[in-house]
Amino acid sequence: MENYPYVITISSEKGGVGKTTIATNLAIYLKALSEDLPVSIFSLDNHFTIDKMFAFKGQPVRGDVADLLLETRGSELLHTGQFGVNYIPSSSQLADLRNSIKGPMVLARLLAGSCISGILIVDTRPELDILTQNALYASDRVIIPVKDMPSLENCRNIFDLFDKRGLDKKSLSLIPCLVDARIKFNGPFRDQKTLLRAYATNRGYRCSDIFISKSPKVEGLNTNPEGRIYPILTHARGTEVYNQFSNLARQVLQEYRQTDTPRSLLFQNWLESEEERKKEAYESRLSRLKPDCLLCNHVLSGEQGVDVSYYYETSDGAAAGFLEEKCFTDFLLSAIYNLDKKMDADNQVRLMFQDSSRESFFILKTRNNGEEPAVEFSRYTLKGTLLARKLYPLREYEGRLLSREKSTLHVLVSETLGDYRGPIRDTFLLIHPVNPKNPHSILHEDNYKTFNRLMHNMAEGSG
Ligand SMILES: Nc1ncnc2c1ncn2[C@@H]1O[C@H](COP(=O)(O)OP(=O)(O)OP(=O)(O)O)[C@@H](O)[C@H]1O
Ligand SMILES: [Mg+2]
Repeated sequence: MENYPYVITISSEKGGVGKTTIATNLAIYLKALSEDLPVSIFSLDNHFTIDKMFAFKGQPVRGDVADLLLETRGSELLHTGQFGVNYIPSSSQLADLRNSIKGPMVLARLLAGSCISGILIVDTRPELDILTQNALYASDRVIIPVKDMPSLENCRNIFDLFDKRGLDKKSLSLIPCLVDARIKFNGPFRDQKTLLRAYATNRGYRCSDIFISKSPKVEGLNTNPEGRIYPILTHARGTEVYNQFSNLARQVLQEYRQTDTPRSLLFQNWLESEEERKKEAYESRLSRLKPDCLLCNHVLSGEQGVDVSYYYETSDGAAAGFLEEKCFTDFLLSAIYNLDKKMDADNQVRLMFQDSSRESFFILKTRNNGEEPAVEFSRYTLKGTLLARKLYPLREYEGRLLSREKSTLHVLVSETLGDYRGPIRDTFLLIHPVNPKNPHSILHEDNYKTFNRLMHNMAEGSG
């Protein structure tokens, strides 16, 4: 498990339930129990409790949690802290970063590649924002402190989120916190912790048999003239909380030791298999490309001088390939707009036409138009708004007898959609602009997904 952290997140949407107290003190207790075990901690909240507790006076800071989210490797951000606990310094920039976090799996990926060993504890904000969701997704174990009914009710959102994402809820565990032993009830639920546990179990939530008492001594650990925050382990000996933390740490350690493969390693394995799958899918998309331009038979090997600007694919996937910029512009000018295709390459009208074509995609579909076969040609904006639609007769040759030329419309259609004289297939041809500097990028996983979605939408809309 070296280089793959076992991740524990402390989370609750309710503020002031003891998250940060558990996160920081659990780290210290774990280290005290197992000296050789690397224990690390960071906070996704914008306060600096962790830094106040673990940083040595005057310790230089090299990067913080924001850098982790901006793809710096986690192990490079770890600072050796007090009590032998490693910490990543906190950041006040996280709010700005939230919008740039794409999806709930970013932190899982970053931790899988973090090279952090041992146990990593993540403290969170009292909010189920995208950062907390990321921490939950990356965790082997989630500790949810509850101190009263409102905080218990709030847990529902975390459990619902796990349901929604298909995650194993066994990793979630509630822990009654700030339990005031003086509060007693009549009836079956004698005290706060029994009541909270009973309500939790009733709702199907797993609840720890350990609880943390409310202790004035613990409360006072962060109020002192030095402005420091003292640990329970060193400054609250003799209290119930001291022993409760000891039990909690033992339990966590046992679960850690029973875990063969932490989520970060599982995630890394999954990422690698995903990479392999993406590579294979990309190669299969490459292998079915027609090697030359449909319209001029120029070999499109991507060498200099050949401007590949359009990608085409039929809706049944039977034909796919690239078209040269010049050929496709000629085709549009003559076959579709009935203009002179023999304009010079630097002709302003032609250049404007060329540029505006790149802002569109095109659909060609064969139609049975009474006696004569025909092609329906549609032009759309890149956002999918229909700009023009027209029916063209499908003839093999165009022009007069002496100046007869093979029809490019006919070439495009017969080479992709098949023989128009046979039964008309329920397919269409989609021609989409590509980045001329890197035409194959349209076949990369995410771009191809977008292209496929467009194909799908067009198939739904056509008929
Ligand atoms: N066992 C305890 N006994 C008494 N006071 C406690 C105990 N645990 C935490 N506290 C106090 O309760 C307050 C809230 O604790 P803490 O900051 O750990 O909660 P939190 O859930 O992290 O809060 P936030 O949601 O604002 O981040 C603090 O003043 C802390 O000192
Ligand atoms: Mg906190």
